[in-house]
Amino acid sequence: MRHFLPNGKQLVIRPPQVTDAQACLHTFQAVTGETDFLLFTHEESLQYDLAKEEAFIRAYMDNPNNMFLVADVEGDIAGMVSLNQGRTRKQHHMALLGIAVLHRYWNMGIGRRLLTSAIRWAEAHPRIAIIHFEVLANNERAIQLYRNFNFTEHGRIPQGIIQPDGSTVDLVVMSKRIKPI
Ligand SMILES: CC(C)(COP(=O)(O)OP(=O)(O)OC[C@H]1O[C@@H](n2cnc3c(N)ncnc32)[C@H](O)[C@@H]1OP(=O)(O)O)[C@@H](O)C(=O)NCCC(=O)NCCS
Repeated sequence: MRHFLPNGKQLVIRPPQVTDAQACLHTFQAVTGETDFLLFTHEESLQYDLAKEEAFIRAYMDNPNNMFLVADVEGDIAGMVSLNQGRTRKQHHMALLGIAVLHRYWNMGIGRRLLTSAIRWAEAHPRIAIIHFEVLANNERAIQLYRNFNFTEHGRIPQGIIQPDGSTVDLVVMSKRIKPI
């Protein structure tokens, strides 16, 4: 999927190749250092190396029930989105969403386009009917993005996150029905 950003640069949303592993790893480790809104700490992300990232990308290539897409801005991996199908048969209709964009690319519509691509993939999948995730209650930007796509908030898990500084944050449970079950 090819788009133009407000700054005129070209954005392509595409699955990564194994040769993108270094760039993907760099972006993943950068976003965990830029924001506390992800489930990984920066230190945890540093435990990933090139071999692990290559294996991570290959696992998506080999599994038609999971999806991993990158936002490629003229060779720079500006963000990524993933959907992972529920592991057990009883949850094969559920897919867990993960999404992140590098801070310098925020507010250019990349998150919206990544989410659109993920929803389209889920619509085309034969079994996935629900996209779900938990988002930190103070992540207003992400929650607004999800509301724009008619994701529903179902409640919250009090103190579902303990940040590295010891502070706690509630988790908001959200989902979107993609198709009838
Ligand atoms: C959430 C995230 C993916 C959004 O990416 P993005 O590329 O900036 O998103 P877009 O530019 O497509 O859209 C941003 C939307 O955020 C909302 N937004 C922007 N600024 C906002 C603000 N100050 N307060 C509330 N909402 C805001 C708007 O709804 C905007 O969409 P709209 O302008 O079309 O209405 C990005 O901020 C990010 O990676 N954050 C860190 C990681 C993260 O939080 N991931 C989600 C974990 S659940």
